[in-house]
Amino acid sequence: MKKHIYPGFFSLTIGILAFYGCQQPSEKKMASGKAGLEKTVFGRLPDGRNADLYTLRNEKGMEVKITNYGGTIVSCTAPDRNGTYADVVLGCDSLAGYLRGTPYFGALVGRYGNRIAKGKFTLDGVTYSLATNNIGNHLHGGITGFDKVLWTASAVENSGANPALKLTYLSKDGEEGYPGNLPVEVVYTLQSDNALKIEYTATTDKKTVVNLTNHAYFNLADAGKSDILGHELLLKAGRFLPVDSTLIPTGELRPVAGTPFDFTRSFKIGARINDSTDTQIRYGLGYDHCWVFDSPGGSLTEPFATLYEPGSGRLLEVLTTEPAIQFYSGNFLDGTVTGKGGLLYRHRTGLCLETEHYPDSPNRPEFPSTVLNPGETYRTTTVYRFSVK
Ligand code: GLA
Repeated sequence: MKKHIYPGFFSLTIGILAFYGCQQPSEKKMASGKAGLEKTVFGRLPDGRNADLYTLRNEKGMEVKITNYGGTIVSCTAPDRNGTYADVVLGCDSLAGYLRGTPYFGALVGRYGNRIAKGKFTLDGVTYSLATNNIGNHLHGGITGFDKVLWTASAVENSGANPALKLTYLSKDGEEGYPGNLPVEVVYTLQSDNALKIEYTATTDKKTVVNLTNHAYFNLADAGKSDILGHELLLKAGRFLPVDSTLIPTGELRPVAGTPFDFTRSFKIGARINDSTDTQIRYGLGYDHCWVFDSPGGSLTEPFATLYEPGSGRLLEVLTTEPAIQFYSGNFLDGTVTGKGGLLYRHRTGLCLETEHYPDSPNRPEFPSTVLNPGETYRTTTVYRFSVK
């Protein structure tokens, strides 16, 4: 593993890392400096292997910390309208926190992000059975998904002003019930324009299904001290996927017009989230649905999702090559998971914008395919871009 320390940045980096290694101050004005990537030990896994913590920093002073345990984004700072950088994601201070279990805080999710009905799908006449770890369905890759494995990490050489971390993992044939050896690579790049780019690639030696995403919980106000109901969301999606009571899509692509799911113009998340007259809101216990982008596929030039927090002025734009996004409003957060600085994350104090293919696609031939064949390369990119308004 190569350690990158840029000259002149050494003492500042070490000082900050020593401080951050044991606690996460909620707010700190960062001095601008050189871009770089630094590595420290995050903790020890039960099997004796170390998990590391990588700090990516750009010249503006934005900083993203990622551990190779689960490929997890541990913290991510973004500027407010006064130029103050503060953490905007939920997470834990230590590896022990993640090992105790979190609802996928900041993690890479795979082999299949989101749900597969009853944990079963058929390819070429062979039915595969996966763990049913969510009320009878398969969720986020199973019992030991990509969020709970140790990835191999290395700094991307010569990344200059855009420090980048490469994570690789070989998901073996039969792991969690999925067919095919699947080498996966994820590259996190912190760009000089305060955007975090995530590039996913995978190949297989046997026909399989793949749907990778990241499960960061954002709270642009205060990283989870208060709820996200005042955040304003815009989704360029005229349709969403209604679900059954176990959150499996029914197959319908329903227009959002006239429903609490209409975010085609900016709406406060809290405005309609408790509309109990809406069956879909009741099933999701709020928002926990997949929106289908109007012009999916390949556009990294304009954001498909925009999240704005009026108090701080922080703006998050999501650009993606994926056709859809799961907007999950943190409905299952209930104050039982201890986060950074001992904070108990209460109901709806973070929200996820998980770019993805549709849930349960392996059982829905009419949905865009998530099948990966030998000889093909799975390739998707998502960018979380931070600015102010
Ligand atoms: C996803 C799901 C939710 C929930 C969270 C984790 O986003 O859609 O239903 O399982 O992960 O708590």
